[in-house]
Amino acid sequence: MKKMQAATLLGAGIIFAIGVLAWPGASLAKEVESSMARGGLLYDKWYKEIGEKAPGTKHPLYPAEGKYAKKAGDTWRCKECHGWDYKGKDGAYAKGKHYTGIMGIHGMAGGDPGKVVALLKDDKHGYGDKLSDTDLQDLGNFVTKGQVDADKYIDSATKMPKSGDKAKGAAVFNTMCAKCHGMDGTEPDDMKKSLGKQMGNPWEVMHKIMNGQPDEEMPALRALDRGVVMDVMSHITTLPKKP
Ligand code: HEC
Ligand code: HEC
Repeated sequence: MKKMQAATLLGAGIIFAIGVLAWPGASLAKEVESSMARGGLLYDKWYKEIGEKAPGTKHPLYPAEGKYAKKAGDTWRCKECHGWDYKGKDGAYAKGKHYTGIMGIHGMAGGDPGKVVALLKDDKHGYGDKLSDTDLQDLGNFVTKGQVDADKYIDSATKMPKSGDKAKGAAVFNTMCAKCHGMDGTEPDDMKKSLGKQMGNPWEVMHKIMNGQPDEEMPALRALDRGVVMDVMSHITTLPKKP
């Protein structure tokens, strides 16, 4: 009799354990890295990521004298106004063809994602009828929890990574990235600039490594230690700067 009871208890315990492990919400609910990464992809080029056509008219907040005013779709990319370094007019877009005079989003790091969602839905930003609630939530998570402080990682004067181990980066690159980009960073063929050449804009490279490339199979390294990202960036500085 005692044996039976023990066996029944054990059986119930196993069934309970399986239930907890298999219940989808149980362990996944707390993970926000994937939402932040998706927010990063939307920040980059939301219409590509969600498989929509770019809007045909200029974004209402984009200045008429801005260099991209005639490229309507581009003016709707978050990065076009707020920059790859998230600092807008106070960062790399302080001058040059991407200048808009618009502030960055770094001030909202650590803030409330709900406030970002509300701001994106308001008449000024006008994304309410273009993005789903999930898209907006992902952007809210990216803006408030997913930004990196560019100055901590990239020297804006030399455009070089401030840290990173080239040898470790080569190992990561050659095993993870080379499948798609080739050992020398010149693939795939339809990529306009080689990865070596892309380091002319290290903030964009870092954003893509952290979050991936919109609507492509490229992985996001966000969940790994930032040191790994810096190792990979350091290695990319050694790759051929072919066009
Ligand atoms: C055409 C330019 C433009 C685009 C595109 C744009 N914004 Fe903005 N954004 C602005 C301007 C201008 C402000 C300043 C406040 C205002 O006028 O609403 C702003 C403010 C913000 C702020 C508040 C920053 C702060 O510290 O108060 C956040 C966050 C933000 N934008 C996020 C985004 C996100 C995310 C996207 C993409 C889905 C985006 N923006 C696309 C122009 C733009
Ligand atoms: C499964 C394939 C795949 C893997 C793995 C991959 N990428 Fe990519 N990556 C792509 C594709 C496709 C593009 C878009 C190329 C284009 O612009 O046509 C891209 C774009 C990029 C870009 C932006 C280039 C541009 O033109 O905007 C960078 C930077 C980049 N990848 C770095 C990396 C790094 C570093 C790794 C490894 C950590 C990596 N990728 C792994 C497929 C991949």
